[in-house]
Amino acid sequence: MSAPLTDGLPSPRRVLVVGAGGRENALGWALRRCRGVERVWVAPGNGGTAGQEGCEPLPIAESDGPGLVAACLERQVDLVVVGPEAPLAAGLADELRAAGLAVFGPGAGGAQLEASKQWAKALMQEAGVPTAGYWAATSREQALQALESHGRPLVVKADGLAAGKGVTVADSLEEARAAIEEIFAGRFGSAGDALVLEERLSGPEVSVFALTDGERMVLLPPAQDHKRIGEGDTGANTGGMGAYAPAPLLDAAGLELVRQQVLLPILATLRGRGIDYRGVIYAGLMLTDDGPKVIEFNCRFGDPECQTLMPLLGDELAEVLMACASGRLDAAPPLTISGRCSACVVAAAAGYPGPVRSGDAITTSLTPDPDLQLFHAGSRAGADGVCVTAGGRVLAVVAQADDFDAAFAAAYGGLEQVHFEGLSFRRDIGHQVRRP
Ligand code: AMP
Ligand code: GLY
Repeated sequence: MSAPLTDGLPSPRRVLVVGAGGRENALGWALRRCRGVERVWVAPGNGGTAGQEGCEPLPIAESDGPGLVAACLERQVDLVVVGPEAPLAAGLADELRAAGLAVFGPGAGGAQLEASKQWAKALMQEAGVPTAGYWAATSREQALQALESHGRPLVVKADGLAAGKGVTVADSLEEARAAIEEIFAGRFGSAGDALVLEERLSGPEVSVFALTDGERMVLLPPAQDHKRIGEGDTGANTGGMGAYAPAPLLDAAGLELVRQQVLLPILATLRGRGIDYRGVIYAGLMLTDDGPKVIEFNCRFGDPECQTLMPLLGDELAEVLMACASGRLDAAPPLTISGRCSACVVAAAAGYPGPVRSGDAITTSLTPDPDLQLFHAGSRAGADGVCVTAGGRVLAVVAQADDFDAAFAAAYGGLEQVHFEGLSFRRDIGHQVRRP
């Protein structure tokens, strides 16, 4: 049984995190540190989970709703935190809630914020949220016609979940046409049954995360990630090669503007549609000359922004997520947020974001340090307990310090203590905030 808070909200003791990535490794670590939390399971977790003090891997796939429900009931889990978008879009949170469990993560209705770009654009329009102008299309002909009548290259976005690969920022009409053809030729499966054409915006990008109970919210420090594989932000898009927070691009007044102009209206419009959104809203923003505009919404924490942010949060996090899951953020203790600088550098396997080799042994000689974390992502427990690579983005090293120069020096220093064959990383993560 959970311990009651003074106002009757339970404080979670037994927590399950769903997912296998670096984000879930960081969530497990942060929740295990929280006051009152006694056990944390991560399903299925990764090669780093077993080595995390107090975290236990649970070999159940994130797509196995009945398996997860049964495991939660059996283990008397007080709070489930769902990490990735795919199970959220598939209705995992609904399934868990139907079994009486407290879940941090939106149901399938709310997850459409990320799972359908058309749906999200229509919601933004209804809410009056600043975003790029757009045209929705459900056929190749319709899309090509919209492009030709516009006469300028537009950003082409597959409607559904495409693992971060569904967006083409076209420099020419020809490139935009090719992207449309590719989507309707089935490159993204049913995620490409429809698409959105968008006006191209310009400006620096920043991510804002709101923890919400459907009505109230707590904002985390703004973060910036580095999506491109190459130094100088060049080359192919990736899941994210590193990040830092708080991003000075958005000061306290800027963050408040985003709350007023973006997050509160979206939440009110979701409620108007009967959607009780309990989880995190991730707003990907572009800071244009006309103010912040939404590039995309996601229904989950960013990866690797989550790894960057978790070490800045206080040990009330579990209670805050529980309060969100219970629709009672008003009853939660205030979330302590450190004002320090957090730097995250991702180590990828050779070849990423293309095909990579897996099965290489990962070794580390990191000494324990409260301001330095190693979060696994694409790794698994190999034979003889040796942890081996099992994906493109293998792990991340995160460090906190009083300024970004010191934080990045510590993160890069930590990375030197980590080894696997073909390890590669960008040396210029955080170039915007580091002294040259
Ligand atoms: P998304 O998958 O929606 O995050 O888009 C991937 C990247 O494409 C974003 O991080 C932006 O850099 C870029 N992008 C998306 N939409 C636009 C837009 N309307 N104008 C300019 N760049 C965009
Ligand atoms: N780091 C970008 C994302 O999680 O979508």
